Amino acid sequence: MQRPKISIIGAGNVGATCAHWAAIKNLGDIVLLDIPDKEGVAKGKALDLACCAPIERFDANIIGTSDYADIGGSDIVVLTAGLPRRPGMSRDDLIETNVKIVKSVSEKIAEFAPDSVVIVVSNPLDAMVYTAWKATGFPTNRIVGQAGALDVARFRAFLAMEIGCSVEDISALLLGGHGDDMVPLPRLTSVHGIPITDLLSEEKIHACVERAKMGGGEIVKLMGTSAYYAPASGTIQMAEAIIRDKKRIIPSAAYCENEYGVGGYFVGVPALLGTGGVERVIEISLTEDEKKLFDESAQHVKDLVATVCRMFPELA
Ligand code: NAI
Ligand code: 2OP
Repeated sequence: MQRPKISIIGAGNVGATCAHWAAIKNLGDIVLLDIPDKEGVAKGKALDLACCAPIERFDANIIGTSDYADIGGSDIVVLTAGLPRRPGMSRDDLIETNVKIVKSVSEKIAEFAPDSVVIVVSNPLDAMVYTAWKATGFPTNRIVGQAGALDVARFRAFLAMEIGCSVEDISALLLGGHGDDMVPLPRLTSVHGIPITDLLSEEKIHACVERAKMGGGEIVKLMGTSAYYAPASGTIQMAEAIIRDKKRIIPSAAYCENEYGVGGYFVGVPALLGTGGVERVIEISLTEDEKKLFDESAQHVKDLVATVCRMFPELA
């Protein structure tokens, strides 16, 4: 039987770390692709990673390349190409440069890996998922964005630090776009079924919510560029759910037509991920306050998409 194949576009911090997590999880063969000027970097990182196999005991062919022919037959393509933010920048400041990159990469994906499921990571995430959808022409179930997997992991990590319990037992949910207006849902967050309101004060819960929202910015400020361990870990969690047909429900930027009243945009919602990509968007009922926050976040996503369409009318 042939191994599954994962291609990762962009061999920078997030891309290379995705390759690392995918190898450790034994997900399949890995292609790490970057621009011709960085082909050496892609090849070097792939070779370095391949040499971990005897220690970590994974079986995978791992190659670096700048040739799109090498992504042929991919089951999953992870799109990380693009600039990351620097201190003082918002994710939205990257829009013009990254739309151009994501558009050109997506056209190549459509040509060379036409049957793949694409997981978009480049920022501003919600606008890049839209761009990839338009530029590949793929059905909506085969385009999904990674943000919620990361954001909810941050939320769980900060709660565990505050409570002093294992992160394993914390179950949480989060909706909306990958911006500072994302919507963590404390009402649906528990520690092994115990509502967090029984374990933390309202003030402390609020602090964890705010820290999750600003978690990306906190790391940019500390190290001068954006995070990559947790973003890549979240991305490969999604890739694993798809490749192994796990039917996991992971907050993801998925296409919502009627769900949540969104009306035809990719927004962060609980999505059931399996071989078919996004097999189902799970709709939950929200309180009035939650709905208001979700609508504000969804409106921000719509504004970003409108900016993309204004700058690049061919993507409208
Ligand atoms: P990086 O600068 O380390 O790597 C980006 C790579 O993309 C570089 O190696 C660059 O040569 C490559 N690239 C640029 N244009 C390309 C093209 N046309 N074709 C192929 N490769 C190309 O940046 P990093 O830290 O890996 O971040 C990548 C993207 O992911 C950024 O846009 C960043 O904002 C985003 N990001 C998204 C997160 C999320 O949760 N959705 C979290 C962290 C980062
Ligand atoms: C993050 O949240 C910058 O989107 C990136 O770390």
